[in-house]
Amino acid sequence: MRGIDGFFTEDEGRWYARLARGLRGGVFVEVGSWKGRSTSFVGPVCNANGTRLVCVDHWKGSDDKLREHYETTLAVEDVEATFRENMRALGITVEVLAEPSLVAAARFEDASVDRVFLDGSHDGPSVLADLRAWSPKVRAGGVLAGHDYDVKHPDLCEVVDAFARERGLVVRRGPRSVWAYGTAT
Ligand SMILES: C[S@@+](CC[C@H](N)C(=O)[O-])C[C@H]1O[C@@H](n2cnc3c(N)ncnc32)[C@H](O)[C@@H]1O
Repeated sequence: MRGIDGFFTEDEGRWYARLARGLRGGVFVEVGSWKGRSTSFVGPVCNANGTRLVCVDHWKGSDDKLREHYETTLAVEDVEATFRENMRALGITVEVLAEPSLVAAARFEDASVDRVFLDGSHDGPSVLADLRAWSPKVRAGGVLAGHDYDVKHPDLCEVVDAFARERGLVVRRGPRSVWAYGTAT
């Protein structure tokens, strides 16, 4: 959404909103929200559909190549406060879990979440840890998806691909760097 600084393009945002649009009720988890740019696309849809929207972020930046960028911003800005203010200004109701992704994942029963979108740390070990932690939480017929599947993140692509091979899944592509697991049929 224009006006919120972040890492999501408009076409990715439209895809993301469609991901939420199919739900009535249910649970949508976003891992990695930063200032709320991606959240701004799904928030109104989730709120309108009675979907519980949970944003997970420890607001400590990431262990990937943007680490310094996050550190520089976090040194001068309370980014969690910016996120909350952006949501308030847009009238979006969101449940915030301001903690590490793996701690948040442990709060959910297996097969209890309809959508999980991963946009936390993009280094290989973190992506693998997120996939292992969150994939059991997605209910049958739900969707596990994420951001930054592109040439700038070869480790992320490798891990997402290997996890798919192990589980007999296929990696489908949305606009730009969006990926989502689907079944082979
Ligand atoms: C790429 S940014 C998210 C961008 C956001 N989706 C947007 O549209 O602008 C990554 C975010 O993930 C958070 N993050 C990274 N690793 C995390 C972890 N292990 N647990 C929780 N949050 C994490 C960072 O604090 C950062 O806010």
